[in-house]
Amino acid sequence: MQTTINAWYTLIAPFYEQLMRIEEPPEARKQLFTHLNIQSGERVLEIGSGTGKNVDYYPSSTRVTFLDINHSMLRRAKRKQKRNSGSYTLVRADATRLPFADNSLDVVVMTYALSAIPENERALQEAERVTRPGGHIGILDFVRAFPFPMGGMSSLNLFNLLREREGNLVCGEYLPKKRQGIYILQVP
Ligand SMILES: C[S@@+](CC[C@H](N)C(=O)[O-])C[C@H]1O[C@@H](n2cnc3c(N)ncnc32)[C@H](O)[C@@H]1O
Repeated sequence: MQTTINAWYTLIAPFYEQLMRIEEPPEARKQLFTHLNIQSGERVLEIGSGTGKNVDYYPSSTRVTFLDINHSMLRRAKRKQKRNSGSYTLVRADATRLPFADNSLDVVVMTYALSAIPENERALQEAERVTRPGGHIGILDFVRAFPFPMGGMSSLNLFNLLREREGNLVCGEYLPKKRQGIYILQVP
């Protein structure tokens, strides 16, 4: 399954941002980052960072690691780095086996990433493992729909994953028009 998904993202990397313009509720990314309120100097990991669409939302002087499994997407993110004065690192890795120590990050960001990862429960557990207690995980994603092609195969169980973590939710906003949601989890 992961090989197919990787091949899919290699194929669509050149058009990915145009395709997402159709799927994304306007301002949804901005809303997520406003809620997250990332502070200068915080250690941030963005999982499934794709082409780096979020690059402009990070405050300068934030240390961000963009992590993705797909070379073509990462290559595009690399080009965007120059637009922002922040400090960025690009890492090619699997979200289900993050190459980071426990509790080593302040913030993890996942926009349209969990729904693209077949083992999304494992990916969320990994995000929780690497985030320090009191740190935040920011999610923007499809939660109820099964939209092809951008929503991925796993969006149906995302809603359940978030419901299981209700006690850790510090912000949850369902965007009904696109069946997406913005969620901030605080790691206990
Ligand atoms: C829908 S795109 C989202 C890209 C970006 N976060 C955004 O908001 O536009 C999903 C991304 O997740 C990546 N991905 C899929 N499975 C992954 C995995 N197991 N580990 C890391 N990245 C993965 C894909 O390569 C792709 O770049």
